[in-house]
Amino acid sequence: MRSEVGELLHQARSEGYAVGAFNVYTLEGVRAVVAAAEEEESPVILQVLPSALRLQGRALLVACLAAAEDAAVPVAVQLDHAGSLEDIRMALEAGVRSVMADGSRLPFEDNVAFTRAAVEMVRAFAGTVEGELGRIAGREEGEEQEGELTDPEEAAAFVAATDVDALAVCIGNVHGRPPRPVHLDFGRLRAIRAKVQVPLVLHGASGLPEDDVHRAIDLGICKLNVNTQLQEACLQSMRGALCGGGGVDLPGLLRHASESMRASVRSKLRLFRSPGCPR
Ligand code: 13P
Repeated sequence: MRSEVGELLHQARSEGYAVGAFNVYTLEGVRAVVAAAEEEESPVILQVLPSALRLQGRALLVACLAAAEDAAVPVAVQLDHAGSLEDIRMALEAGVRSVMADGSRLPFEDNVAFTRAAVEMVRAFAGTVEGELGRIAGREEGEEQEGELTDPEEAAAFVAATDVDALAVCIGNVHGRPPRPVHLDFGRLRAIRAKVQVPLVLHGASGLPEDDVHRAIDLGICKLNVNTQLQEACLQSMRGALCGGGGVDLPGLLRHASESMRASVRSKLRLFRSPGCPR
């Protein structure tokens, strides 16, 4: 059943868990995420990055929306890390109603202006927007970037100026597999929580230790983003099949890749305390 991110985040916040948001690139990914959520009786978010849009076109968004409609659990579809209003418009016209507008590479005022413009565009379609303040370190859309932690005072000003519905925060989290152990700044998260009323989001959940995930949820994170772990599951499965020596056909290769991603999504949903939450 189709849901929207705003609805899922408010329910997660009131019930003390985080909704898992998983990046998909192909139909196998879409199927894996929805099947895992159905098995765990959990809501879930399918996310599409601009790079995946470049690869697959709007067909990937349409496939996500169709899978959400057909699912036995609430499934929302979000455009992730959109850095241009053109991509946001394309997603809205395809039927997507949840967007992450990412102006985090820009100076504060420019980030506000970009995010505010995105909010106006998305609201015209009755949708919701996640903004980002600070900058998440690590590899994003093929580029390495330096991290910058979210300042709690600035976060409050950013939310007031943009009217975003959710805020992605940077508290030491990293996109991809971090080269050294991640240490989340929980004091900073507590301070942001005290000043910001909208639901908080943490990106970079592939490399986070389990205890940190639980602590972050206890301190108000209600959406966790996962990309790298799913890609790894898919690639490992394909590598295993292709290098295993036995005969391999394409449907078999894709089925195994999808099963491997499904297992990965299930383990994350359990970690996020999401499974079995009321629908
Ligand atoms: P990871 O690649 O670290 O899982 O982060 C994903 C993410 O935050 C996508 O928005």
